[in-house]
Amino acid sequence: MSERAAILVTRKLPEAVEARLKRDYRVLLNPEDALYPSEKLLALSRDADAILACHTEHFNAELIDQLPERIRAIANFSVGVDHVDLEAARARGLIVTNTPDVLADATAEVAILLMLGAARRASEGERLVRSGEWNTWSPAFMVGTQVTGKRLGILGMGRVGQVTARRARGFDMFIHYHNRQRLPAELEAGATFHDSVEDMLPHCDFLAVHCPSTPETQDLINAKRLALLPDGAILVNVARGNVVDEHALIAALASGRLRAAGLDVYKNEPDILPALRAVTNTFLLPHIGSATRETRDAMGFRALDNLDAIFSGAEPGDRVA
Ligand code: DGY
Repeated sequence: MSERAAILVTRKLPEAVEARLKRDYRVLLNPEDALYPSEKLLALSRDADAILACHTEHFNAELIDQLPERIRAIANFSVGVDHVDLEAARARGLIVTNTPDVLADATAEVAILLMLGAARRASEGERLVRSGEWNTWSPAFMVGTQVTGKRLGILGMGRVGQVTARRARGFDMFIHYHNRQRLPAELEAGATFHDSVEDMLPHCDFLAVHCPSTPETQDLINAKRLALLPDGAILVNVARGNVVDEHALIAALASGRLRAAGLDVYKNEPDILPALRAVTNTFLLPHIGSATRETRDAMGFRALDNLDAIFSGAEPGDRVA
């Protein structure tokens, strides 16, 4: 019988996922959950046949070039793959996979949480109660804006965007969306399609960013496009930080042009721009869109399904390179 494949696992994964890994592969786990610098990653990958990685590892062309010949695949524990230079991976003949579908519910929950938190000033309110500085109530106290019945523009109507739209309909929101391709009517479910971002933005009381980070979407939401939103609009982002020009966002929040923003993702995580922390009309979370027990298990199993396919000579279901 041939020797089982060896998998380098870059971060600590859920118990059940690690148990399945240990059952089916030879594994190099990371029980300390340390963030490996590139040199360490290279050193550890010497005896591996594949790497089970997270978005916290940056596989740029230089690193991919130096990976040992025997590495056949990078199976990501993420739907986003902007941390991997896919062109370089293709050139090197590396298989790259991701984990779509399974995190749509969890991430859409956070999109709704951010909309509610930003609109209803949840951060300010929480700070007030925790600090012991809450000392009043009046009709003018901590007045926010209602989510119910507003227009929600969804930028990127993939799986997460579609679930966010469904949940938002529970708040009687009117859905607008921009996507590279228009959805079939049964998935569109009455939402209004806009064939350009510019066309959609004036219709967004809330804008939810759900599109992947690609060279084409870097800083897509810049000062010019933010200016197309109605006065007092609210932006939420659960996709990737670099889709939004954070300096332009901070300026729009500070001037009051935007009422608020709810962010789960940032350009430079976890060292986010200090100015982003300083503006108070924000509701900020630390990239926890997929962070539920159920979803993290499902992401791990999906990554393992991809590895199983690769090492049994089949095409993995979620191949992106
Ligand atoms: C994803 O799956 O892309 C999440 O952002 C976690 O990496």
